[in-house]
Amino acid sequence: MKKVVLDTYEDVCKAAADIYIEQLKNKPNSILGLATGSTPIGLYERLVRIYNDGGINFSKARSFNLDEYYPIKKNHPQSYDYFMRGHLLDKINILQSDIPNGEADDAISECKRYDAQINAAGGIDLMLLGIGHNGHVGFNEPSVSYNMGTYLTGLTDSSISANSRFFTEDDVQPTKALTMGLGEIFRSKAILMLICGKGKAPIAKKLFEGKIHTDIPACFLLLHPNATVILDKAAALG
Ligand code: F6R
Repeated sequence: MKKVVLDTYEDVCKAAADIYIEQLKNKPNSILGLATGSTPIGLYERLVRIYNDGGINFSKARSFNLDEYYPIKKNHPQSYDYFMRGHLLDKINILQSDIPNGEADDAISECKRYDAQINAAGGIDLMLLGIGHNGHVGFNEPSVSYNMGTYLTGLTDSSISANSRFFTEDDVQPTKALTMGLGEIFRSKAILMLICGKGKAPIAKKLFEGKIHTDIPACFLLLHPNATVILDKAAALG
């Protein structure tokens, strides 16, 4: 696992954007794994700017997102579908993008469909990840199995209460999610994890101890042959 520490969040976003420019230059039809959350927002803003300036071309690329609440309407402002369209997908010329369908009637068939689509596309070339304070990746919470494909999972009580502020009283807040499993993520040819902010320093420290803590999902990165973690100083030093 390669570790890169940069001064600021902006530096992390710039370095990550450079990786995307390089990736699409080398393989225009790349399959990109994408994440939501606050961490990649600066990267997505930068990619949109670079795209508008003609510096990157997504026209042959395809994306698969990591996760989605279940059930949730695609046009709900808290859906990851809505997030991705607003921050990136509607603003670039990407050929095709796929997000687990929070509106699917049958979650299990949706997971199978999703995995089959990823496999048919040839697997993910570059998978972008954030990390939770407890080491979660996607909705893979502590002690999850390391070999799963996409699956339906219950949200932890802490995730439900952390997210409750985003849902109004009229909303039925989702208590489940569809997420790529660690096995699916691990099969990506390259993984790029971004860790930013002082709040992530304790989990970053754990990750870089280099031990496989089975209760920290992100530790699977230590086993991956082509994983890069870019941190800002706040996350690296605390
Ligand atoms: C994103 C995701 C989550 C986040 C993680 C960190 O699709 O599934 O695992 O990557 O919760 O979130 P932020 O970036 O908001 O700290």
